[in-house]
Amino acid sequence: MSYTITVFGLGFVGLTTALAFAEKDNKVYGFDMDAERVKMIKAGKLPFAETELDTALLRHINKNFTVTEEPEYAVKKSDFIFLCVGTPCGEKGEADLKYLYSAIDMMASVLNDNKYRVLVIKSTVPPSTTLEGVIPYLEEKQLSVGDKFTIANNPEFLREGHCWEDMINADRIVCGVYDEKGEKMLQSLYENFHIPFFAVSLNTGEFIKYLSNTLLATMISYSNEMTKIADAIGGIQIKKAFNILHLDKRWGGCNMTSYVFPGCGYGGYCLPKDTQAMYEKAVSKGYEPKILENVIRVNNIMPKFMADKIIKIANKTDTIGMLGLSFKPGSDDVRDSSTAKIIRILLDEGYNNIVAYDPIANKPFAKEYKFNEVNYCNSIKSLCDKADILVLATAWDEFRDIDKKYPSKKIIDCRYFLGWQSDDSSDDYPL
Ligand SMILES: NC(=O)c1ccc[n+]([C@@H]2O[C@H](COP(=O)([O-])OP(=O)(O)OC[C@H]3O[C@@H](n4cnc5c(N)ncnc54)[C@H](O)[C@@H]3O)[C@@H](O)[C@H]2O)c1
Repeated sequence: MSYTITVFGLGFVGLTTALAFAEKDNKVYGFDMDAERVKMIKAGKLPFAETELDTALLRHINKNFTVTEEPEYAVKKSDFIFLCVGTPCGEKGEADLKYLYSAIDMMASVLNDNKYRVLVIKSTVPPSTTLEGVIPYLEEKQLSVGDKFTIANNPEFLREGHCWEDMINADRIVCGVYDEKGEKMLQSLYENFHIPFFAVSLNTGEFIKYLSNTLLATMISYSNEMTKIADAIGGIQIKKAFNILHLDKRWGGCNMTSYVFPGCGYGGYCLPKDTQAMYEKAVSKGYEPKILENVIRVNNIMPKFMADKIIKIANKTDTIGMLGLSFKPGSDDVRDSSTAKIIRILLDEGYNNIVAYDPIANKPFAKEYKFNEVNYCNSIKSLCDKADILVLATAWDEFRDIDKKYPSKKIIDCRYFLGWQSDDSSDDYPL
């Protein structure tokens, strides 16, 4: 069965969703508010680095996938509307849902016509948002769910750097549904993905996403806390200790071990905001989650822990070379990057000679953070020629042997990355 689908928001999740449905022979319209992003996608160019998504875009643009500037027209024709807009961290740490509601405003006038549709929230929203926020919002607009349209959520579990593979070959598809009709339509839409499909209640669908992200954040903060303990005791080979831990058969060789590894804190778009939003949601419902509170606290102290290691060996006249600016290897996403937090501390402490290099994230980092004091280099060599101290902040594969190539340099390895065997599988490297 082939459907017509409109996707709101063409970021990592929305563009991947749109192209995956196009790949499965649906007709897909995509809409985004960001004019620069729209222009690039229309020209067949990805607005961010993402392997395999570039070729999927070229396969489908202006064929099964059309970028539209008329969202109402697209919604009118569609059987499904997927909301994939951002849900950033609000002022008090809560999920800010303004983009979600603005997208709903844009389609509200169309939802009451005689075509039956499924409105699907794919953005990450805290449990109870659909029932207690979105449905009442629609009702205020005289749009009653279950009558002419239904609502569902469909959390996304993809990892940046693996967006296409993670969506096309997902481990599971989860849909929080309002009614049976919505469940059946979603099941039919996903049928030719041949992936285990689970229909659950609306709140459960939303909860599962946070179950996943807060567990990942917890494993990272756990590893970082243990590393701080090891550091305080002394004489502990941290990399070796974690590598040996990973050999335990109870992990079953799963890729989750890459999260049970120390570093300079989790970053990126999702783990920081989702852990914080889940904490705030629990507090607003009368429960103070102690584990999450400390997961966040440990994460917040990690950049200072690393900066202190640098400060211990650096003079204020030294040039400090930051290797890696994106929040993880394989991505040019610099949102909530640990490197930015370390640089901020160094600048505040008067270490003003900083050079930086990332294989693909120099430009987005410079645009996002506007550190006037930082000079960007276009190769590892040019950075190493200038720097007195090297700080390995993102575990890019091309940094693997800098300790051997530059044996005279002092190196702070924030990712416990150097000295790994070259045959370590790439999925097992530290995040
Ligand atoms: N990035 C990830 O790895 C990932 C993984 C799973 C889930 N998520 C969740 O998916 C959602 C989207 O994340 P993302 O990384 O794709 O975000 P993103 O910032 O890359 O993209 C969001 C897009 O939405 C657009 N937008 C905002 N308001 C709009 C509107 N009213 N109409 C149309 N477009 C609008 C923005 O211009 C932007 O292009 C978030 O809730 C996020 O938490 C992200």
